[in-house]
Amino acid sequence: MNNFIYDIPTRVYFGENQLGNLGPELSRFGKRVLLCYGGGSIKKTGLYDKVVAEIKNAGLELFELSGIDPNPRVSSVNAGADICKKEHIDVLLAVGGGSVIDCTKYIGAAAYYDGDAWDILLQKVPVEKCLPVITVLTLSATGSEMDAAGVISNPETKDKIGLIFPPMQPKVSFLDPTNTYTVSPYQTACGAADILSHIIEVYFNVNQDLQMLDGVMEVLMKTVIKYAPLAMKEPDNYEARANLMWASSWAINGFVNGGKRQAWSCHPMEHELSAFYDITHGLGLAILTPRWLAYTLNETTVSKFYQFGVNVFGIDAALPPMEVAHKSIELLSEFLFKTLGLKSTLTEIGIDDANFTVMAKKAVTGGTMHAFQPLAAEDIEKIFRMCQVK
Ligand code: NZQ
Ligand code: ZN
Repeated sequence: MNNFIYDIPTRVYFGENQLGNLGPELSRFGKRVLLCYGGGSIKKTGLYDKVVAEIKNAGLELFELSGIDPNPRVSSVNAGADICKKEHIDVLLAVGGGSVIDCTKYIGAAAYYDGDAWDILLQKVPVEKCLPVITVLTLSATGSEMDAAGVISNPETKDKIGLIFPPMQPKVSFLDPTNTYTVSPYQTACGAADILSHIIEVYFNVNQDLQMLDGVMEVLMKTVIKYAPLAMKEPDNYEARANLMWASSWAINGFVNGGKRQAWSCHPMEHELSAFYDITHGLGLAILTPRWLAYTLNETTVSKFYQFGVNVFGIDAALPPMEVAHKSIELLSEFLFKTLGLKSTLTEIGIDDANFTVMAKKAVTGGTMHAFQPLAAEDIEKIFRMCQVK
């Protein structure tokens, strides 16, 4: 078993009616608050008014950055960083999904840098400091509320880059499942696919010796499989929304990958799809994951698939391991494409093979992806092609 450091320094207020703690939490870091949000969902739901009331009641000064896009752009990071510098912002408040939170994290980092924020994504400058980030989560998916990662797009260069910088870890996150009642069935499905993928990227690991974490991951996956369809059918089912919300945070907050060191596979591939075609992250992952699993299944890896099939999907343990493995991929596909109703091929979402070669090369950044099974650019291109047909 490998050594690891366990450190998740985000204070979480989980559940309903906790927003009264927002003012005091913001005040710990100063008086001047930059509120960051997306395309307006928080105004429609009334959350904006509640948050602003808390900020005003606490006697804090409010500044705003709105219009952060899904697959957030570096232009929003630069715009936010400019406000921070000009207005001497003390603390950032992200209210939204993963895109708003990711963008806010980089605003906090870019506030200490005088050039283009894209230099941070290109790792030309280190992130040693970040303004404190507090989040109010409105969509269960990315886990950005409880991790130090962030993903930013640059439409001009068709790049989407995700990096982890510990100073960007949110100081405090408000996780109220009722704030996700208005998430559409489609976004709920994409969020579920994203949570599953975060777990699958770690679970399918050649390091098999941390059984306790495998058990945790199996329960997290079963939680998503149970509650995502329910949340789609009954958007205001508290139990379903709460289970999805907490599962989304724990899927990627660093806990489940203790000791399991391995590059991810589907995420670098998906980021190329989003970079080139601006698709929803969870949708891309849903299409890629079963194909990637099928591509990596062989006599060496079959035992992991067997464990997955038996423990997550309840497939008969007496069946031959290879049969269980194939069935597990089938059941996962059925869940993603029938139960959640997500489109199952790249063709259906209007993506042809025009950019597969360049996207595959970019996904491995010129080398080989040292993942569950090593993947070279040629392998990735083949996986993209597998995604064209059902
Ligand atoms: O922009 P608004 O108006 O807020 O609408 C959003 C957006 O259109 C809407 N929405 C959010 N909460 C809602 C709501 N609509 C109604 N009611 C609510 N309560 O949903 C749409 C999608 O939002 P977005 O934030 O883009 O979704 P998500 O949370 O899935 O974030 C996706 C981004 O996170 C990155 C992805 O690559 C993508 O850019 N990721 C971040 C990670 C991280 N920080 O660790 C890891 C992930 O693997 C992922 O890569
Ligand atoms: Zn993801």
